[in-house]
Amino acid sequence: MSLANQLQQACWFVTLACARHTAAIAKGDTMPATLLPTALLQGLPLLWHNPARQPAAQALATLPYGAADIAAAIARWQRFAPLLAHCFPDSVAADGRIDSPLLAQAGPGGTVWVKADHALPVTACIKARGGVYEVLCQAETLARRAGLLAEGSNYALLAGDAARALFARHTILVGSTGNLGYSVGVMARALGLQVEVHMSSDAKAWKKDRLRALGARVVEHAGDYAAAVASARQLAAADPQAYFIDDESSLLLFFGYAAAAHDLKAQLDTAGLQPTPACPLRVFLPCGVGGAPGGVAFGLKCLYGDAVQCVFVEPVASPCFLLRLASGDDALSVYDIGLDNRTLADGLAVPRASATVAGLVQHLVDAVVTVSDDSLLAEVRQQWQQHGLRLEPSAAAGFVAQRLAASQWPQQVIPLVWTTGGHGLPDEVFLPLLAG
Ligand SMILES: Cc1ncc(COP(=O)(O)O)c(C=O)c1O
Repeated sequence: MSLANQLQQACWFVTLACARHTAAIAKGDTMPATLLPTALLQGLPLLWHNPARQPAAQALATLPYGAADIAAAIARWQRFAPLLAHCFPDSVAADGRIDSPLLAQAGPGGTVWVKADHALPVTACIKARGGVYEVLCQAETLARRAGLLAEGSNYALLAGDAARALFARHTILVGSTGNLGYSVGVMARALGLQVEVHMSSDAKAWKKDRLRALGARVVEHAGDYAAAVASARQLAAADPQAYFIDDESSLLLFFGYAAAAHDLKAQLDTAGLQPTPACPLRVFLPCGVGGAPGGVAFGLKCLYGDAVQCVFVEPVASPCFLLRLASGDDALSVYDIGLDNRTLADGLAVPRASATVAGLVQHLVDAVVTVSDDSLLAEVRQQWQQHGLRLEPSAAAGFVAQRLAASQWPQQVIPLVWTTGGHGLPDEVFLPLLAG
């Protein structure tokens, strides 16, 4: 980085510190002692330990949500299983569960476990766990209201004519960098709902094209992810037939993701892996706005307590969750600290963290790692060449972070990388990523 850039960043830092100081004084608070790490401001990879992390039991005890909310989400997934098996006979197993395999990768430091959501049925990305789930919640609400569902109904009837006629009169809106929009689009269109997806400028053309092919309306925005979400939110508020899936603050998305922890636990049990506080499961979760990693972390901490460590992984240009955790300030964006939010990892190109999710998981996140685009690209190639995993750059982030953490935070752990998307990448998008 040039001297001019360094000076500019120093100025931003001082401006930011002054702004926070003024705000703190106005509120009668004292200035928090935490300073932002220099590497964060310089856009360099780093491992950051969360000073606000608390023992899981203590952190969870203060939250208004808990295991019962996750149990309700699991029960809803189960109610919908016959419908999912009916809608997606080629990709969802006959039991109607949307889950991915747990893989073992042999590496120089031992086995690295991979929760392979890049190959999740239906949408090949983790966002389906939340996006599909919230569409199902809304479908259930509409159908119950219309008297189509009675106690004990087989939900496969929601694929019938009466339900489709009902759903066709309703629209789902969502703002997305791509994968949430696709997950919502696939499920909503399968049920016959109208869907309108507001996409940020970072969203890849092929992700927009495949949504259009499903019959979704795609609205393109010149601005970033936050602008796309804000626009969808505003439009939905003006339309009584519209339902908005809010990636920045939806608890339904959050609990949909959280249910994944139970899927993983069953697989770890089968593999004979029993994490303990002395040898915890160390999970690496790519993070955009924070919903998917936040929900999964919440679910895992509810199940495993301090026998799990949750490490969020962000691009060096878009470390919005680290910024929120380190500053305690919901309003701050990565632009405020001189970063440009431009990254190959389109799914993680988010300038400001979800205030809702940050509020819920701020004491549960153990650490955040930031990674460079170059390292993501190298990892996409390596994972394909050595292990045959077809990953998009966002989904490769956990591997890069796992190695950094292994060297800078040595401890006996069971490392697990959550691969969050990519199996659906068309050749014309994937092959250029492999070219030197
Ligand atoms: C492939 C991929 N991984 C991870 C994430 C992160 O999810 P979240 O934005 O909920 O933090 C996204 C978000 O779109 C994604 O597309």
